[in-house]
Amino acid sequence: MGATVRHLLSAGDLSGEEISFLLDLAAALKRRPQRVLEGRQLALLFEKPSLRTRVSFQVAMRHLGGETIYLAPQEVGLGEREAIKDVSRVLSRYVDIVAVRTWGQEIVEEYAQYSAIPVINALTNEEHPCQALADLLTVREKKGHLKGVSLAFIGDGNNVASSLLVTAASLGMDVRMAAPRGYMPPEPILAEASARAAASGGSLTMVHDPSEAVRGADALYTDVWTSMGQEREAERRRIAFAGYQLNAGLVALAAPGALVMHDLPAHRGEEITDEVMESEQSIIFDQAENRTWAQAAVVAFLLGAAHEVQG
Ligand code: CP
Repeated sequence: MGATVRHLLSAGDLSGEEISFLLDLAAALKRRPQRVLEGRQLALLFEKPSLRTRVSFQVAMRHLGGETIYLAPQEVGLGEREAIKDVSRVLSRYVDIVAVRTWGQEIVEEYAQYSAIPVINALTNEEHPCQALADLLTVREKKGHLKGVSLAFIGDGNNVASSLLVTAASLGMDVRMAAPRGYMPPEPILAEASARAAASGGSLTMVHDPSEAVRGADALYTDVWTSMGQEREAERRRIAFAGYQLNAGLVALAAPGALVMHDLPAHRGEEITDEVMESEQSIIFDQAENRTWAQAAVVAFLLGAAHEVQG
């Protein structure tokens, strides 16, 4: 059992100080990539498709002097072809760190229980902590700071929203979210984000009316209404989220020049219009770029190499 090994399974695994430290580390690595992980190996154990997460981890490891091994969906069969605990213990004998993209959060948690090496959540149904770190790095680049910056998430209380709420609230941001009834993030996430906002001097406001959430906000964020694995609910969700599209009308209610954010892939014309995605205010592709540096920081931190990075 890898009880003493540090993992990143959930946004809540990181304190506010650690999140700030990781953002500084990511910024330093972005300014000057450094080969602090020469000869180290990262396995990417993916049970769902990916463009950004896969490529950005591979590019991050290349920048750090390390290597990656990609295991595609259907290749390993976590808990199907082989017991989760056996896969975890076997990979621990081959590589130094593993990023797992899978379905339920309980799978990555069981995996980590048996891992002798650090495990990173590369997306589960419940959380996407690497995305949240890249998002905050991007907002900080654009605004120069995060404390007091207002960020409104419009749409589904999914994995991206959950990790974003917890991390943003940890850093003193004014976090707002608008979702239809029945589509808010889970109660334990809201409790965690609320406690962190109280401790950091930030705030958390949950509403159902999108215009209430975006009014005067510095950054607007949305994501798909139907996540991977929910395809059978797509029609019901399209109806539930009909008034939640991030469009020019909603953007006009935000602060002048408000940042427009999306973690991608996007369904243009559904949760966000083409016009808003292509606008000058969009930082969507900067978010995608920053996945590399946020994840480089996470890997270096979990492998104990952060102190080798020169500012
Ligand atoms: N945002 C994100 O995680 O993208 P991928 O699913 O392409 O990795």
